[in-house]
Amino acid sequence: MHPLVRFQQECTAFFQALSPEGQCPLVFGDGLSENPVLMLIGEAPGEQETLQGKPFVGKAGKNLTAFLEAVGLEREQLYVSNVVKIRPTKQSASGGTVNRPPNAEEKALFTPWLMREIAIVRPCALVTLGNVALQAFIQDTVGHLHGQWSRAVIAPPEAQAFTLPLFALYHPASVIYNRSLTEVYQNDLTILRDSLRARSPEKSDI
Ligand code: URA
Repeated sequence: MHPLVRFQQECTAFFQALSPEGQCPLVFGDGLSENPVLMLIGEAPGEQETLQGKPFVGKAGKNLTAFLEAVGLEREQLYVSNVVKIRPTKQSASGGTVNRPPNAEEKALFTPWLMREIAIVRPCALVTLGNVALQAFIQDTVGHLHGQWSRAVIAPPEAQAFTLPLFALYHPASVIYNRSLTEVYQNDLTILRDSLRARSPEKSDI
């Protein structure tokens, strides 16, 4: 069995045991799962992701397409995933179900699974979208670290820790809600594109 399939089965069993009355389905990563140039890490799936069983589809998929165009990559060259793999929801004032940010317990439960996932996929580098993804690795804010390369420690449970280059970006959704970030975000994408272009094909690292 492919290690990623085993990973998905074990992760599903773990979260089913925690919530036997049933919670919304887990949404796993998608894309090139063996040594992609980049692994893009978001926060958590939303409604469309849960319906389609894939991260970054629907409105968030448009953000992803814009990201790919800006950095000159195809979706097939990437692996895309989220820290939290269930859709965190709450009731809105009008009684509907809406997204909410993942809470501390959800982040703590899912982070070791993310570490295992990275150790299986072995990307050349990580790109984190927003604070939730960044802080799975580095206790700093995207306001400080966006647009530059840092080094992430990947510490899968019961396995050897290793490091990977990490490029922090604002979450595309926060750019939509805060127009003043648009220029900053575009500039960060240019920096990322230039460092990908400068990367020689024989180097496995960025
Ligand atoms: N869709 C995802 O899969 N992740 C996000 O962080 C946002 C939208």
